[in-house]
Amino acid sequence: MKASEIRHNFLKFFESKNHTIVTSSPLIPANDPTLLFTNAGMVQFKDVFLGKEKRAYKRATTSQKCVRAGGKHNDLENVGYTARHHTFFEMLGNFSFGDYFKEDAITFAWELLTTVFSLPKEKLLVTVYAEDDEAFSIWKDKVGVPEEKIIRIGDNKGSRYASDNFWQMGDTGPCGPCTEIFYDHGPEIWGGPPGSPEEDGDRFIEIWNLVFMQFDRDSDGVLHPLPKPCVDTGMGLERIAAVLQGVHSNYEIDLFQNLIKAAAEATNTKDLNNNSLKVIADHIRACSFLITDGVIPGNEGRGYVLRRIIRRALRHGHKLGQDKAFFYTLVPALAKEMGEAFPELIEWNERISSILRQEEERFQETLDHGMKILESSLSSLKEGENLDGQTLFTLYDTYGFPVDLTADIAREKGVTVDLDGFNKAMDKQKETARASGKFKVLENISYSGGDTQFTGYDLCREIDSEVQAIYVEGTSVDQAVAGEEVCIVLDKTPFYAESGGQVGDIGVLLNANTNLNINITDTRKITPTVYGHYGSVEKGIIKVGEKVEAFVNPEHRVLVTAHHSVTHLLHMALREVLGDHVQQKGSLVDSEKTRFDFSHTGPMTAEEIKKVELIVNSQILSGRKTQSEIMNYEDALKSGAIGLFGEKYGDVVRVMQIGDSRELCGGTHVDNTGEIGLFKIVSETGVASGIRRIEAIAGYRSVEWAQNSSSNLAEIAFLLKTNPIDLAQKVKAQLDQMSLLEKEISHLKQKLVSLSSGDLLSHMQEISGVKVLACEVHDVESKALRDLVDQLKGKIGSGVVAIFLKNEEKVSIATGVSKDLTDRFKAGELVSHLSQILGGKGGGRPDMAMGGGTDVSSLAKALEEVKTWVESKV
Ligand code: ALA
Repeated sequence: MKASEIRHNFLKFFESKNHTIVTSSPLIPANDPTLLFTNAGMVQFKDVFLGKEKRAYKRATTSQKCVRAGGKHNDLENVGYTARHHTFFEMLGNFSFGDYFKEDAITFAWELLTTVFSLPKEKLLVTVYAEDDEAFSIWKDKVGVPEEKIIRIGDNKGSRYASDNFWQMGDTGPCGPCTEIFYDHGPEIWGGPPGSPEEDGDRFIEIWNLVFMQFDRDSDGVLHPLPKPCVDTGMGLERIAAVLQGVHSNYEIDLFQNLIKAAAEATNTKDLNNNSLKVIADHIRACSFLITDGVIPGNEGRGYVLRRIIRRALRHGHKLGQDKAFFYTLVPALAKEMGEAFPELIEWNERISSILRQEEERFQETLDHGMKILESSLSSLKEGENLDGQTLFTLYDTYGFPVDLTADIAREKGVTVDLDGFNKAMDKQKETARASGKFKVLENISYSGGDTQFTGYDLCREIDSEVQAIYVEGTSVDQAVAGEEVCIVLDKTPFYAESGGQVGDIGVLLNANTNLNINITDTRKITPTVYGHYGSVEKGIIKVGEKVEAFVNPEHRVLVTAHHSVTHLLHMALREVLGDHVQQKGSLVDSEKTRFDFSHTGPMTAEEIKKVELIVNSQILSGRKTQSEIMNYEDALKSGAIGLFGEKYGDVVRVMQIGDSRELCGGTHVDNTGEIGLFKIVSETGVASGIRRIEAIAGYRSVEWAQNSSSNLAEIAFLLKTNPIDLAQKVKAQLDQMSLLEKEISHLKQKLVSLSSGDLLSHMQEISGVKVLACEVHDVESKALRDLVDQLKGKIGSGVVAIFLKNEEKVSIATGVSKDLTDRFKAGELVSHLSQILGGKGGGRPDMAMGGGTDVSSLAKALEEVKTWVESKV
């Protein structure tokens, strides 16, 4: 049975049991910061299990895209070493949300395996959680599995509920006991049943996990019962395909074979069993699916996991002798293999290739060099020894080798790596960077008072704030005096603290009674709810408990606000013009500009930029009031508000309506779109593969920009004696005239050369009957030297010519010999001889040759040498 048939038959079987077929969710879990990637079928139903979300169905079935790399359930290190691990795989599952429970879950699974998939019953055995008598008796009495084939597994992983038969999604979230079904590949393969010392062998392979979701685990590890018990099952498509196709390794199934062939072709590898091909085939799936779901290779979080997978694949390519970009060429083969089930692979084909290619070319620059360094370090180590942290760090920092990549290579030689040493080297570098001011961190402030109340959405002034805490160099103090740099916490403040890309407010804290004046240059969050006001005491003394007036600098705030509001409109317009793949990847909004990073491959065209500007400006000109609304998160999404991809929002969110844009945002915004003023994009550049950056201005900044641009134009027009409207035409005319003049000058120079060549004849001498003309010339362009030699040859009729031109740091030489003499004197030989004297090289034909050198001081000697050379030949 082909993998696609297995997928189809699975879903259809559960549909016949009243399950709704639900599409796979993306690999990036929506609004779940506890998880790096979707790593099981149940992830998209997490809130349904928890009773926080209702669906129109109580039974569902899916074939879910999963990635197990980075985070809990990380299989990256195992890929290539085992027959069954993948970074990307599909999980087939059926789910009950408070509907059926253990009995149906078990009997459905048994029916599917033994009838639809026709697996022999005697080849199957099962495990149950040691305390789960109910599951045990269902298997024994209802299904009829012999007792000796039902194995109880307890807490075998060191703590309560830490067990192979107790499944949990992550450190927190839904969890419960499970029962697993195993397939026996037969006694000819080494391995023992689950729970035995030989369980890691390949004979008994787990094919299906049925989880009885009963608890929600909180961050303290406490289990709370779910509102209703649920069922979550997971069967790896690749594993069951291997069983049904009678092959031993997942990599031998149909789904992988074509990919492995494509990888072999791309890397010129003959041996299809080479492990590196498996790694590459596995990794191209993970990388392509991650990219279609919006992940871009980067230096942190999900982006860094993607980068690590790509680099691991490239290193295996390198191992196969591949030194050019190859990985990206596998994307079409993948789309061919899996595009029917996942059309996004076809739709995004080019984009995936282009992102991979850029990433690949980038790493290619350092891979080879890094490998040489690593190989040389490894060659001096014996098995069991440790690769030092400094080498690990150099490879990471200079050559882009993720630590796990280096560890993986070291492991092939039986060498371990010194992670502590690596961390120390890393800390040391951070320390150096910090000391040189490149690294700015919030001081390690500990604060135990109340939260800061933000009153600054509508106001720039708060006359009644109380000082809660004062810090000088991170230490809590009772008071601070003029001249000290401080961080101040207030009970309420109109100062916006840096977040969501918007910079913190600046302004002053005053107390007229005590003559206190503190200049605040930044506001940042100490914790999500406590704001630190950073600045210096200019006058007076500030004390804890004192009342102060807090004034935000209004000009700064107005500019920042205009830039923030326009960022929302820009985001909307980019999606409209470029497509829905545009996702915000970062932003910095300050008083100078807005800087907006977004996913998109390739530069925007001038036309697209213009369109975006027009859309944004027409939104601004519509002069609509903006609105902020506090809403329940779900309702906000339903109302069409967009959130940032992968960002975590609380249950209650703030929705900003600005023109037609509707986004979740906590920033400060204009009251009416008209306040944004003119919007202008000033630059559009690439910052990383697949990420573009726009810098744009609004408010007074665009007024200044317009004024500067027009006064620059006016000045240029004045200098060219025209007006801005006719400027382009005038410049063109001037350029045309300049090129005419250049031609004329060159013509005149030539004429000058030919005139002066007459004078040069005075340098001619006869040596043993041969006319020899050797001299230095001036005011001649070096490209005219050939012509000059030709003219001189013409004038003397028969003879040898050598002219020298000195300019700046070098001397050029041109030599010529009339045709009748070339059998005796070769111009090329002469020039090469002379050039050597000047510390350079030269050569050419027997009748005409060029050369020169930089030893300007030997010019006279070289000139004199012409005579000697001719004499030596006669
Ligand atoms: N969620 C369960 C697993 O991933 C079914 O094994």
